[in-house]
This record gives sequence, C-alpha cells and structure tokens, in this order.
Amino acid sequence: MQRTLIVEALKSEKPLNNISVCGWVRTRRDAKGFFFVEINDGSCLGNLQCIVDEGTEAWMALADANTGAGVAISGDLAPSPGKGQKWELRAKTATVFGLADPEAYPLQKKRHSDEFLRTIAHLRARTNKYGAAFRIRSETAFAIHDFFRQNHYILVHTPILTGSDCEGAGEMFRVTTLAPGEKNVSEDFFNRGCNLTVSGQLELEALAMGLGRVYSFGPTFRAENSNTPRHAAEFWMVEPEAAFIGLDDLMDLGEGLVRHVVRHVLDRCQEDIGLFDKFVDKGLAARLENMLKLPFARIPYAEAVHILEDSGREFTYPASFGIDLQTEHERFLSEEHFQRPVIVYDYPREIKAFYMRGNEDDETVAAMDVLVPRIGELIGGSVREERLPRLQARMEELGQKLDDYWWYMDLRRFGTVPHGGFGLGFERLLMMLTGITNIRDVLPFPRTPGSLEF
Ligand code: 4AD
Ligand code: MG
Repeated sequence: MQRTLIVEALKSEKPLNNISVCGWVRTRRDAKGFFFVEINDGSCLGNLQCIVDEGTEAWMALADANTGAGVAISGDLAPSPGKGQKWELRAKTATVFGLADPEAYPLQKKRHSDEFLRTIAHLRARTNKYGAAFRIRSETAFAIHDFFRQNHYILVHTPILTGSDCEGAGEMFRVTTLAPGEKNVSEDFFNRGCNLTVSGQLELEALAMGLGRVYSFGPTFRAENSNTPRHAAEFWMVEPEAAFIGLDDLMDLGEGLVRHVVRHVLDRCQEDIGLFDKFVDKGLAARLENMLKLPFARIPYAEAVHILEDSGREFTYPASFGIDLQTEHERFLSEEHFQRPVIVYDYPREIKAFYMRGNEDDETVAAMDVLVPRIGELIGGSVREERLPRLQARMEELGQKLDDYWWYMDLRRFGTVPHGGFGLGFERLLMMLTGITNIRDVLPFPRTPGSLEF
C-alpha cells in the first residue's frame, strides 16, 4: 500500500479507500468498543484522527501504542462526523515500529516550557511549536532563494574554513589538527592558522567582480561570548554581493528581500503562522501584514542618535554620536519611534569594519543596518571601499597585516568597480517571522556559550 502524507490526506477532495499513513501518536483516547489515535507525521501542523474499532487487526496491533509511538496505520479516509476535522481514518490494519514508554517519554504533557524543551532538542521536533518553526524555516529559505533568483543573483558557495578574519573582530573559532600542547602553526594542516568563517563576504566580493550579482546562504561561526537571546555561535547568514551598486540600491535590495519573504511566508505558511499568532505572539500575523503596508523608514545614523538623545528615555548605554547602537537603541527606534523597520545608514567610520567605503565627510562610511521591531539588527551591510589607496590606509590604521589580504587588494588593482552587499541573520529573520524571542528556539540544535549537547 502506498504511503499518503498527512498533509495530502487532510487536503483530500474526496474519500480515499485503503490508504496508509505513518507517523507518531500525539494523543490517544479510549472509549467503549473503539479508541481514537491522532497521528502526526511532520508534513503539516494538523494531526490525522484515526478511529480504531474493537475487533479490527489495527485494534490488536495498536493495543500498547501510546503518545510518542511510531506507527503505520492503514484504512479508509472518510468524512469525520466530529468537530474540527474534515477527514478521519477508519483503521483496518496497523504496524507499531516503536513504542514510547509513558513512564519515561518526556513529551507526555501537552505544554512544556521552552527551557525544558531545549534540554531535549533531539525530541522537540515532535511538538506542534517546533514542527511549525522548522517548517517555516524551510519555507523561508526557499523564499530567499526565490527572491535572488528572480533578481538574477547567482548562488555561490563560499568556504567555511578560512585563513582570514572578515570582520577583523577576532571572534573566530580556531580549526587545527595539532594535538593539544603542540604550538607550531607551520606544522598544522594548512601550514598556517585556520578558522571557521565569520562571513563569506571577502570571497563574495571576489566572485561578484566576475559574476556581477552573487549571494551565499550558509553557516557562519562567531566565538563572541555574548549570552543573549539574539546571538548564536553557529548561525546561518544570507549574503548578497553586487557590482555596480550604491547605498540606495543596497537599501532597496535589503528591504525588497525582507518584504518578499514576509509575503511568501504569510501566503504559504498560514497554518503554522496561525499557531504562533495564537500561542506565542498574539497579533503576529496582523503585524507582519502591517509591515508590508508602509515603506521602511530610512535615516542617517546622526539623526538616529538625535532621536535617541531627544527621546527622554533612560538607556543603559546613553546614546551620543560615535557609539555603536545597542539592541535597546535599535529596538527603541524600530519598535517605538518608527513602529516599523528602519534602515540606519552612514555610520561613523570608527565603529565599523575596515572594508566599508569612506564617505566624503571623512567621518562616516556608506554602511546600512536594517533594524526591526523586537529584534534590533537584522541586516548589516555596506558599500565596499573599492579605492586601493583608501583601503590600504584604513587597514594600516587598524594595524591589519596587508600581506594576509593581498588577494583582496588585487580586486582593487585589477578592474575595481563600485560594489556592496550585506549579511542577513537567517535566525533573526525567523524570530521576526514567528515571534519566537530566543534564537535557541529557531535553530534545531543551537550552539551557544557552554552549550553543545546535541
Ligand atoms: O553585521 P554583520 O556582522 O555583518 C557581516 O558579517 C558582513 N560581513 C556581512 C556582509 O556584508 N556580507 O552580520 C550580519 C548579520 C547581522 O545583521 C545579524 O542579523 C546576524 O548577521 N548576526 C548574528 N546572528 C546570530 N548570532 C550572531 N552571533 C550573529 N552575529 C551577526
Ligand atoms: Mg552588524
């Protein structure tokens, strides 16, 4: 018998005889002469209710199948007389692949705290909330690829092992084959130091100088010891890089991407978004819809600082020109002041990375961050310094070893052109789309300081 996915069964237009579904028992209710089991197979939020009548083969087979058991059930899909579902499965035969001892299975209860579920990350995909979160994660990734494809961006894969520090921030994980205690880097696998990448940007710039418009979507690693709900040590970043692009185009690209994804997820993930709207973040769907109604606000950094200074708000870090915006500032601007996403641009040179293009005022760089309500920074990007003398001077100022970046500077030596790009934190986007407030709950197996269990 061919297997039918529950998402297909629930959407069926007509009764179906002799279908077979596989999944995990979510609930079981015993009655006189029959029992119900609700099965979920991960293909959608909904369960398929199965009626198992006394005397059927299925009745015998499922005798001990409680919450958590992995089963296959075959029978006829028929209209359900009960409330809340269109179809039910009248079970005829069944197989139990594996039982789950009710005394030991941790997901017996209906509701569990997020904190508890993090300790059983290997089981939480079997709950409604995490199933929904990971399905939205998948659909969001498709929406991102779809957007770039429509805009003629070429997908490239940048290396994960790298010899350079893109952000110049020194927050890198070291990769080595040397035994503990061995210190001679020249004897290491690559005869030099190797790190996990913090961003594919430098390589993307090289590829954009031939392919024009490129993007990557892959894992990035940061050894920053910040235990916040918005930082993970391993996260996924979406990074477009384009030749012949200026700051306004870059802002349009970032805004366009976010809008495209929100529209796509609202249209394609209604049921899963509905769950978050109801149980996690009331009003989520309406807020996402609203986000699409107005253009994002756009203000220079200097103006953002004025708004913060004039806000009358007591921030933990008081705002003044030259400070790096903190999450509290970013959230105030987007959540309270503008009440929508806001793009802040032209940041002071001193707080930004070496590769950002210097503005004529000699004080700011052509950088832009997209800040969104509840999250703060979602996107960080810039136009790149394409003028070799300026780039060199800046790197020297910052004490960077020019030799390490010879190939990066070659890009400025041969056919340099204006270009720029950004990085979007994929998990932060998912937090925005689901209302989930901790990054640990949008990553299937989060890596954060002191936490690497799974
Ligand atoms: O602003 P960031 O550091 O920018 C870059 O790395 C650039 N090289 C990207 C580029 O221009 N190609 O990081 C980009 C985004 C941030 O806006 C944030 O959303 C996310 O990556 N991000 C993190 N997400 C989760 N955990 C962390 N530790 C993150 N650090 C940055
Ligand atoms: Mg940033």
